[in-house]
Amino acid sequence: MSSALLAIACGIAEQGGALAARRRAEGVEVAASKSAPEDIVTFADRETEALIRSLIADARPDDGFLGEESDASRGSSGLTWVVDPIDGTVNFLYGIPSWSVSVAVVEGDPDPSTWTTLAGVVVNPSSGETFVASAGGGAWLGDRRLEVNHGVELPLALVGTGFSYSSETRAWQAGILTGLLPRVRDIRRLGSAALDLSFLAAGRLDAHFERGLNAWDHAAGALIAREAGAKVGGLRGAAEGVGMTVAASPDLFDALEALLVESGAMV
Ligand code: IPD
Ligand code: CA
Repeated sequence: MSSALLAIACGIAEQGGALAARRRAEGVEVAASKSAPEDIVTFADRETEALIRSLIADARPDDGFLGEESDASRGSSGLTWVVDPIDGTVNFLYGIPSWSVSVAVVEGDPDPSTWTTLAGVVVNPSSGETFVASAGGGAWLGDRRLEVNHGVELPLALVGTGFSYSSETRAWQAGILTGLLPRVRDIRRLGSAALDLSFLAAGRLDAHFERGLNAWDHAAGALIAREAGAKVGGLRGAAEGVGMTVAASPDLFDALEALLVESGAMV
């Protein structure tokens, strides 16, 4: 079941990626601002989500849909497709080749604290890379099975993170970084949480954490990271979600979680 869904998800995400890449090459236009002036949606985000949504409806008419740029719909099958048509929209706007198309299929209520993710795909059209995972089937980049870095101590950890569009949350995030930055190898802000989680799976980062991620930002990437051996969650046993998403090999997860809590990340 999961591998069949993964094959469908892969084909759809790659078609979405190809469309977004064509639009990027033609020139990108902002369509509107959302939660803040910095939080933008481009015409390409909308068009790519519409394409992905129609391909899902053709292939899996009974499934639900939860995407960043259009209304959610409940299906009758118990499965929901969770889609970010362009994760890293600001990079997309500026032509920084670090944005992705993220497609996941989850079972259960469309709520990250209770759902089970069956398949996840993150496509980076700029690099030609497609990161995939299915539940129990491992995480893969082409024919390479992915495994997170193990045995990395916090002072030597390369940690990916991201920042909210809300200036209030950003002020809080700056405070957390003050405690963290002197105690890790370095910080990376790549601009696409789905790519951060995929890079973690591929050993290109040792850890990732972020407050404020939406379900479509982390659904596919969290499965890819988990299937590569990462522990993924919130703080103090919570599920990953808007409050906090942390991902790393299990030992490093615990050390990073403790440091985040010590630095004041009580959400
Ligand atoms: C954003 C990216 C970014 C993260 C933000 C997200 P978007 O998604 O994942 O890395 O730091 O929190 O909102 O807006 O580009 O789809
Ligand atoms: Ca997006």
